[in-house]
Parts: sequence; structure tokens; C-alpha cells
Amino acid sequence: MSESVKMLLGYEPPKEAVVVEGWLRTARAGKDVVFLEVNDGSCAASLQVVADPSLPNYAEIVRLGTGAAVRAEGTLVASPAKGQTVELKPHSVTVVGDVEQGYPLQKKRHSFEFLRTMAHLRPRARTFGSVFRVRHALQMAIHEFFDERGFIQVHTPIVTASDCEGAGQMFRVSAFDPAAPIPKKDGAVDFSQDFFAKETSLTVSGQLEAEVFALAFKNVYTFGPTFRAENSHTARHASEFWMIEPEMAFCDLRGDMALAEDFIKVIVAKVLARCPDDIDFFDQWIEKGLRARLEALVGSSFEAMTYTEAIDRLKTSKKKFEYPVDWGADLQSEHERYLTEELVGKPVFVVDYPREIKAFYMRVNDDEKTVAAMDLLVPHVGEIIGGSQREERLDVLEGQMERFGLEKEPYWWYLDLRRYGGTPHAGFGLGFERALMYVTGMKNIRDVIPFARTPGNCDF
Ligand code: 4AD
Ligand code: MG
Repeated sequence: MSESVKMLLGYEPPKEAVVVEGWLRTARAGKDVVFLEVNDGSCAASLQVVADPSLPNYAEIVRLGTGAAVRAEGTLVASPAKGQTVELKPHSVTVVGDVEQGYPLQKKRHSFEFLRTMAHLRPRARTFGSVFRVRHALQMAIHEFFDERGFIQVHTPIVTASDCEGAGQMFRVSAFDPAAPIPKKDGAVDFSQDFFAKETSLTVSGQLEAEVFALAFKNVYTFGPTFRAENSHTARHASEFWMIEPEMAFCDLRGDMALAEDFIKVIVAKVLARCPDDIDFFDQWIEKGLRARLEALVGSSFEAMTYTEAIDRLKTSKKKFEYPVDWGADLQSEHERYLTEELVGKPVFVVDYPREIKAFYMRVNDDEKTVAAMDLLVPHVGEIIGGSQREERLDVLEGQMERFGLEKEPYWWYLDLRRYGGTPHAGFGLGFERALMYVTGMKNIRDVIPFARTPGNCDF
């Protein structure tokens, strides 16, 4: 049985009869010796295999290049050279999968733009090894966080007939044959003849269904893929991304914010503890000072300000913004970055947004102008969390739906929750990829997603 490179690097040498399997990061031939750097994705470091001419297939090994898949058996010994504490002295090296000429990932540093076109090979590149190990660790940290606090995970549906955010940014799901006449009634498409007998889409959020479960299990969360047909060509928007959405019954906006703050700090602390080498890699190559930034976050307390205050601070900032700052307008990314990076210098909650620019389900405040919404803005990323207390008063909720021009019929079950044992409740959504950008320092969302889907791009 082979063992992971990570395990092997942790052994006290000498250790006989070890087996390593992996891909060559590099192969360097010297005089009567070949150094093979074998990586298997288990950690950032590689295991050095030192092959010499006593191996029967030495001629084959000398010709090996970056990317080849090999299996080596032998003795783990203390390394006499700098750069590693142990190395493998093999009695056999099997070439499992050779590489053809033109393997695109060579030792030199490639641009991230180039590597995006090689999404099938880039997981073997160092940066992406670290990114996807941290992606896994962050995901585990999130599940642990909720599990330790008694939250139940709900698998909310991916195909849905309701638009949670009411923003009309949904991808249609249909079994109609675009090459055949689509059934029409009164001039409009007759969706009653479609697969689900109604108009359906890919979900933009699992929140509405999570609310159903919160009103039975009290504390629940979803962690699933979400889809937005939003034509945003930015480094922080993807058309398919993962979202974590906790929802809590008997909870108000303050409780929601307290959970969000605890959540961010705990998951960052867990990743720091689990992936120290990967974080060091990002600190060295992607964002200088990353580790210090993350450690400071864990010990900090977040700030909070109302939207109205934020607008005032932006207006008096004397900064030239591209988009105008006016009460009632949504905060643009440049405004968010200014607030969290320059004004406050750490994560900041902005609360109580104008009701017109937020979703219909948010609880209307007593001023009747704002809703009990919160966005968490963090340096480097901007908005990482969006959440709110939900409108639990049936009449107010129905009024909100009218205001937003939403039909009540598709939401009948959602409205029922306000009729039968409704409670104040609140929740939020964390964009998983934005959280990953925050903990890795990576600057483009396309580089923290295994296979990114963005406007105009669905390769691989
Ligand atoms: O602010 P949003 O739209 O909130 C909701 O969907 C609520 N239903 C959440 C809730 O209260 N349960 O999205 C939540 C988060 C954002 O703060 C952002 O981090 C991320 O999801 N997000 C995106 N991430 C990547 N690409 C996109 N296009 C994103 N849109 C939102
Ligand atoms: Mg939002």
C-alpha cells in the first residue's frame, strides 16, 4: 500500500519498504543520479526520490519529465542535502503514466489567466494544490462549526419554482424542445405543459426552504450550489457558487450578527490550525501579511454601522467615487471597500438598509423606511455575507410582496409559515468562494473554484 507524501514526510528515517505514488513536479538529472520530486496533492511539499543507475529501468527514468505519474518503492532515509529532511532511496521506480511532449505545466510560473484555460491540469500546480486543500479544509470547518452548535443541515432543492431574492436573475430549467414548437396559451408560453407543469429555475438561494426547517428544528443550515444569471464580469462574481445559509428561529438581527461574527472567526481559526503550510505558501506568494491578517481577525471584534451612517461617512470622506453616494442607492463595491479597508480597517457590518434595495422577505423596521438587513464587509473581498431578520408578520410580508410585484401563489407555503406557529427568525448567507478568497488572498473567484462558470464561460 502506498502512503501519502504528507505521511511519509512525517516519518523518522530510516524506514524500509515504503511506497509513494504521485506526479512529478520536477525531474532533474545529474551525473549518475536523477532527482524526482513526487507530489500527490496531500500537502504542499513533495517527496524527493533519488534514482541511480542500479535501477534496471534507469534509462527510462532519466528521460522522465514534469507531470509523469510514477510509483516508487524503497527506503526512506535522512536527506543529506538542504531542502528536505527525508528522501526516498528506491529499489524500484515504475513509470505509471508517461507525459507526451508539450505538457503545459512546466516548472516556470504560469499566469493564473493561462492556468484557467488548463482547469483540467492546474490542480497539480502548487498554488492550486494549496487552494483546493484549503477549500476542503474550510468546508470541513464550516460543517464542524454548525455540528458543534447543534445545527441540522438541510439539503434544500436545486430546482425551484420561486425566486428567493426576487431579482429575476434565474436560469430557466425546462424540458421543452427548443427545436419544436413550444406550447402557447393566450400568446404566452404554456409552462403547464413543461416537465414540472410550471415555470422552474435553478435556485439562487436555499433560504426560503431553510426557513421551513428552522421553524421545526430551530437552528439549521444549508450548504449547496446556487446559480445566478447575473451579467457581472467581476473578480468576485460567479454564475455558479456555493452558499452556506444558517437560519435560526427565535432569533433577531443582533443574534444573527453575533453568529456571523463567531462563525467567520472560528472557521478561519480552524483553517489556520489545519493548513499552516498552505497558509504560509499564500503568505509568501499571493498576499504578503496574510497570516497576520487572519490571526488578527480571530482575535478582533467586528464593527457595526447603519446604512445611513455609512452613507454619511462616504459623503464626508472626500474620496472620488465612480458611483454617486446617495441615501437609497445600493452600496457599490468601491464604497464597500472604502468602508472596510480604509475607514474601519477590519470587518464591518452595515445594517438597516433602505427597504427598496433589499429582498422582500426582510423585516421592515419601525421607521418603515429600512429593513433589518445586515451585510458583512471584509477587507480584500467586500461583501462576504448578506443576511437579515425575516418578516414574520403576515400582513406586512404580503404588503412587501405587493410592493415588489411578486405573485403570492408560488409562495403560498412560505406565507403559511407566518400562519402556523411563526416566530421571529433570522439568517444569513456566506458566499463560500468569497470566504475562500478571504482566507487564501486569491484575487479572482475563478481561481478558487475547480471549474468556474461565469458569463460566457462554461468550459470543462
Ligand atoms: O446577499 P445574497 O444575495 O443573500 C442571499 O442570497 C440570502 N438569501 C442569504 C440569506 O439570508 N440566507 O448572497 C449571500 C452571499 C453574498 O454576501 C456573497 O458572499 C455571495 O453570497 N454571493 C456571490 N458569490 C459569488 N458570486 C456571486 N454572483 C454571488 N452573489 C452572492
Ligand atoms: Mg447581498
